[in-house]
Formats: sequence, C-alpha cells, structure tokens
Amino acid sequence: MTQHLADRTQPTSDAPTPNPGAHAATPGVPTPPEWWRHAVIYQVYPRSFADANGDGMGDLAGIRARLPYLAGLGVDAVWLSPFYASPQADAGYDVADYRAIDPMFGDLHDADALIRDAHDLGLRIIVDLVPNHSSDQHEWFQRALRDGPGSPLRDRYHFRAGKGEYGEAPPNDWESIFGGPAWTRVADPDGTPGQWYLHLFAPEQPDFNWENPAVRDEFRSVLRFWLDMGVDGFRIDVAHGLVKAPGLPDMGHAGQLRLLGTQKLPFFDQDGVHEIYRSWREILDEYPDQRIGVAEAWTPTEDRTALYVRREELNQAFNFHYLNTPWDAAELRRVIDSSLDSMRPVGAPTTWVLSNHDVVRHRTRLGGGVERARAASLLMLALPGSAYVYQGEELGLPEVTDLPDEARQDPAFFRRGAGGDGQDGQDGLRDGCRVPMPWSRDGASFGFGGVGGWLPQPGDWGALSVEAQTDDPGSTLELYRRALAERRARSALGAGDGVEWLEAADGVLAFRRVGADGRAVLVAANTTDRAAPLPGACASARGQVLASGPYRQGEPLPADTTVWWEE
Ligand code: GLC
Repeated sequence: MTQHLADRTQPTSDAPTPNPGAHAATPGVPTPPEWWRHAVIYQVYPRSFADANGDGMGDLAGIRARLPYLAGLGVDAVWLSPFYASPQADAGYDVADYRAIDPMFGDLHDADALIRDAHDLGLRIIVDLVPNHSSDQHEWFQRALRDGPGSPLRDRYHFRAGKGEYGEAPPNDWESIFGGPAWTRVADPDGTPGQWYLHLFAPEQPDFNWENPAVRDEFRSVLRFWLDMGVDGFRIDVAHGLVKAPGLPDMGHAGQLRLLGTQKLPFFDQDGVHEIYRSWREILDEYPDQRIGVAEAWTPTEDRTALYVRREELNQAFNFHYLNTPWDAAELRRVIDSSLDSMRPVGAPTTWVLSNHDVVRHRTRLGGGVERARAASLLMLALPGSAYVYQGEELGLPEVTDLPDEARQDPAFFRRGAGGDGQDGQDGLRDGCRVPMPWSRDGASFGFGGVGGWLPQPGDWGALSVEAQTDDPGSTLELYRRALAERRARSALGAGDGVEWLEAADGVLAFRRVGADGRAVLVAANTTDRAAPLPGACASARGQVLASGPYRQGEPLPADTTVWWEE
C-alpha cells in the first residue's frame, strides 16, 4: 500500500492507506516559526475551481493541475472546501463518509497526489472538517433510523419525541439556518410517525450529539486519518455549534437567526465546545510541522471568538466582524482595533477575510465596483495577522446576481417557502459567489473545463480570466501577485499584532507598521468617493510600494484607493 502512495504515476483502484510518518517532514516546505501567524490562505471551492474531466464539475485533478498558479500567486496555504463522499444536499457540507472522496471529485489517490504536489510547491493544504452534522445518508444515521427509538445509534444524533398529544409538534422552537423548523419527523421502522431529529441546517444534515463518546472518538480518528494523509490543518465548519444548551431549551420567539453573530443562542457558542477543541489540539500537536485548526465560529463578540484560539485550543478563527464591516474608515478602524485587542490577550493572530463561498463577493457587497474591491484587498493584505483570499477575488470577480432559478442549488433557496423568508438566516442566494472560475479568454467554459460548468458563467467573464489578466500591469490579478510578493518580502506587512494609526482626513484610514527588520511601511486607504488630502507622513514617504489604482506620488489620494509606501 505504501508503495502505491509513493508511486504517483501508477494509481490503482485501491484506496491508499494513510501512512503516519509518510509526510513527517514536508519536502520543499521549510518550517518557519509558526508559519500560520501571517499566512495568506487561499480558499478553493472544489466544485468551481477547475474541471479536469470535463463533466462540468470541478475536481481534485483540476485543482492539482492548477497548483502552480496558486504557488505563483504567492499564497502560503490552500483551504479546500469539502470534497468528501456526499449526496451534495449542501454542496458537500453534508458528509456521508469522512474518509472517502466523492467520486465526482476523484479518489484518495487524487487527494494524496494533490497534497504531495502542493508540498513540493511549498504550499500547505488545509481541509474542511464538518463535525456539527453528517449527511442523512451517513451509515450511522441510516442505522439510527432502522434501529429505532432508544437505540445507541439514535443517541449519536438528537432524536426526541414530539410535543402535542400525538407528538405532532417539534420538540422545541429552534429554527433551521436554511429556513423552517430545525426538526424533521421520521417514521418508525413499522411505518408509523415517530421521533423528530434536530438539524440546524437542511433536513439532510442531522446534527451529531456531541455528548455521546462515540461521536468524540470518531472525530479524533478522522482528524488522525487526514493528518496521516499529510494535511497541514483543518477549517472547522460550524465550530460554534457542536454543543447545545442542556435540555435543548426553547428560544421563546421566532426570527432567531437574525440574532446570529450578535446574541447568545442555545444552539451556538456554548462553553462546552472548548473541551472538544482542547482534545483536538493535543492531536494536532502530536504531528510535526505545526498542523493547525481554524474555527468557523459565529459568536456574539470578538472576545467570545478569542476563546476558540486560546493557547490550548485552535490556532485561528475567521473574523466575520471584519467581513461584515462596511467600507467606512471610522468603522474599519474600530473593528481593526477591537479585533487586534481581543486576540492579543490569548496570543492568537487576527485573521482578515472579505469573501468566501457563503457571502456576496466583496466587489459587489462593498458597492463600489472593482476599484473599491482592490482598495479593500490592499488594506486587508497590509493588516497584521493571517489573510484569507477566496478563489476569484484575485480576478476581481463580481457576484453573479442574475442566475436563473432553475440553475440554483443552494438548499436555503428551496427552503424559502418552508418558512424561511430569506430574512431570518441564509438568503439562499449563495450560488452567486460559487460560479466556476474563468481561466482563459475563450472556450465554452473559459477554460474551467468541458462545455460548461455546473453553474452558468456570465458571457463576458473571458475578459476577467487568468489568461486575460496575466501580464497586464493594470489587472487585479497582477495587483494581487505584486501585493503578495511585497508581503513576503516585508515583515512590516502581515506579521505582528498592532498598527500605529496616523492622523488622516475624515474617511481616510492611515497607519504605520514596523517590520522585524526595522523597515517601516505606511498605508493609507481612502474610503470616500472623492479625492482626499494625503496624510502628512505619507507625503514625505521614501517611495511608493504599491497602489490599488492609478496614483502619482504627492497627489491627493484618489477615491476608493489604498496605497502602500516605504517610510
Ligand atoms: C458553514 C459553511 C456553509 C454550510 C454550513 C453548513 O457555514 O460555510 O457553506 O452551508 O456551514 O455546513
């Protein structure tokens, strides 16, 4: 088996056996101290990145073929959204087998080859782990249905009797994030209406009961499986959801999901989750080369988020407070300060993120077109900590807002009529940021693969393709390439945990950062739609490093523009 792993040119149909030690030292990747503290991590959405077999769906072989592009872009690590065996009720966030690759993406040999090639190119690989819920097609859930009430398998999920004379009402009033009640009733093995089970997301995504030791053991084993395969870390899906308040108490009112990320909820951010992450950290630390855990944790405050990245827990948590901040200097300054202030006491790096597969792409969301998106990106990439880049943002891709209903696949879209009104949680329109990448100017799917992708691309996306933007000095792609190269070359960009604010006109954000090498960088971002006076310190800067748009030194700072200078 180990030989199969070693011989990449001769894949066999046997699944590779993970081989502890096979990746003990990652070839080609030196291990600088705590690489993840200032890493730029690129999110690949496998369905939409590159389609090697031309079936309209991206795959692991496609990603593997494009790894040199990612290395050339200058990112440090690649986070892959789920590629596991899945009925795809929620685009792979419904996992039927945590140790298998869905055939539409390839097999374990492809995963192995992808991890090895990435390491050879100096890229780290972070995989998505989905521990809050499985697919309803997972063997455990299927057995739970068959074995009936009171069985050990039912205890691995949240099965309860319904309320009302005949058990006809859900056990509590919790709402699904995708709309409608968070409970679905099942039939008993003899066909009569039976218990209800909890699903905070789609009915095809039953929540695990994390009080059950078998669930805990299983995920520790899954972690080891992928660590043995050589992955460098995990992005932990719904990390805040695993533990529910004891007794599953009613919320007492509807519209609960409007409170998401602002108030404490009985199904999210319970203190009990932290014990789980402490046990996972022990496993991560057993492996060489700093394997990491990244929490997708929606919490009411940045201080609550910081609890997930205490020294014995995970390494990073997404900063959704930053993602949700409008393009406004005062608000950005406030959230940058509070993000840094809440992470400092626990010693974790702050993260910065503008786009991902669940939100409207920032070119569209910030409302200022590509100029504003570029300015926002250059601001983010100058901040201290780790930055996340979502595939296609380096091309300045906009959200696709006019997808026909029949093309849509987001499960929340179909649950809008089930009580979800698009107001209380997911709007169901997440397909608009998941449209396949354009790689070339021409061709039926602009080089994505085959004659078309699983979602239609806008007809003018050839002009935004990697091919069209490469070597065009004014392109967004070349801006990202230069920004990431400068960030690598200058420790004042990315590393550290603080910024020194500079005096600036209203609507302008300006700060200074000093690198470990003593060299300082000045950054100014004009968030207004008019030119603004240049902050004094920037006017006397030694040289311009990079600007998000056309800019001549000494002139006022143009609208929606960020500039980096060497002091
Ligand atoms: C996370 C994922 C999202 C998914 C949900 C349920 O929020 O990012 O895409 O739908 O979890 O797994």
